Amino acid sequence: MQPPLPPAPIPPPRPLPLLQALKVARGNTLAVIPQAAFVEPVFQQRSPLGPSFLVSAPEGVKRVLLDAADNYPKAAMQSRLFEAFLGEGILTSEGETWRRHRRMMAPAFDPRSVEAALPTIAATAREFVDGWRPGQVIDVSAAMGELTLKIIARVMFSAAGDDLGPVMERTLRSAEAVLERFGVADFVPGLMQLRARRREREIGARFAVFDDWISRLIAERRAAPGHGDLLDRLIAARDTETGATLSDREVRDQFVTIFIAGHETTAVALTWTWYLLALHPQIEARLHAALDASPDAPPAYARQVIEEAMRLFPPVPRIPLRQARADDEICGVRIPKGALVCVAPWVVHRHRDHWDDPERFDPDRFAGERPERYAYLPFGAGPRVCIGASLAMTEAVTALCEIARRYRLTLVDAGGVGMKPRMTLRPMGRIGMELMARGA
Ligand code: HEM
Repeated sequence: MQPPLPPAPIPPPRPLPLLQALKVARGNTLAVIPQAAFVEPVFQQRSPLGPSFLVSAPEGVKRVLLDAADNYPKAAMQSRLFEAFLGEGILTSEGETWRRHRRMMAPAFDPRSVEAALPTIAATAREFVDGWRPGQVIDVSAAMGELTLKIIARVMFSAAGDDLGPVMERTLRSAEAVLERFGVADFVPGLMQLRARRREREIGARFAVFDDWISRLIAERRAAPGHGDLLDRLIAARDTETGATLSDREVRDQFVTIFIAGHETTAVALTWTWYLLALHPQIEARLHAALDASPDAPPAYARQVIEEAMRLFPPVPRIPLRQARADDEICGVRIPKGALVCVAPWVVHRHRDHWDDPERFDPDRFAGERPERYAYLPFGAGPRVCIGASLAMTEAVTALCEIARRYRLTLVDAGGVGMKPRMTLRPMGRIGMELMARGA
């Protein structure tokens, strides 16, 4: 039997007129992407902000993110919006500042550090599942958000994370509400600066409590390190080229960045994984068999399931916008200086040229030979590839296994699931799922 289709919007056959596109995009920004974008290597989009291109052919993606990455820095307009609460962290900086941040943060995310975080991740997931009861109905999206919040907060701050995590979450939700007001008025010359300053003031005020907590914690840790968490590692980080360390403000900015980049993304990856498993009982059964055959370590199939779920529902559906510094050509299409360039895993991962039957959920796509590097990029690629990719995979696979060893999650109402993409591919509203004890 053909399983019901996941809630992806059906691409319009032709680009929508601008006003209609703006209206549709308010509900779902991915619903305006027309069919042509899923078959063409480079698709020119209509945009009120000037020429704009969606690049989806692997060689084009490679050019933007790797070969000509210097010509495609992040679009300043988008980074400025985030700087209001991220400061000048690794996600928003460019050039030498970014290179310095990346050099200093890299050791905190290397394989040794990820391995050191594994016991915390596994114990937190186990403790979380201990709180569940068979027959309980959960909102899987909220539950995965809660779990990844606990995990990232402990990986970052050890025990202090249990208090600081929720403060950070509340702060971000409240700051996000300020960003949601960003709109057409922000492009009106004269109003633009005024609104940006007001936004920064409002966001600063909402961060006051969190900033106070973190600066106290940083002072305590500078005096007494030794917790072996991410906070200790960043405080101790030294630039291999200059010997410089991070200031308190820089440590704070990196933490807000890591939290934003790493918490909801992983939650979303897990949420869609549960949704897809619930719709595909044969694949769920294979996962259970693989888990039963490998009681002490995550089976390879668990990783395949997560990878395939992130293909269909990439947690970051559009990689942050780039802007061409100089004229260029991608796959024969002229890209003028100043053009906005977007690489959208949402489109690349469902592109007709790279994937057979792209809408089908099939974790076997990730068995054996890897798919073409630039046709599958949930974590981006090139120098700005996600620094937390291996931590995120470890976390997602561990959480999936810890939960699936004990429970099946079945959809209470499959009809009501929708998408509300922002920076991440959030589901719309709640996804009710019932917890069935395995083997019961
Ligand atoms: C499934 C989970 C995740 C996904 C899908 C994801 C995806 C991404 C993507 C697409 C980018 C942008 C790449 C670009 O601009 O070219 C990115 C950047 C980044 N991610 Fe992740 N991410 C995830 C989890 C994490 C985690 C767990 C952390 C840290 C704890 C993290 C930290 C970062 C940082 C710091 C950057 C900025 C890197 C830079 O600009 O140099 N991410 N991520």
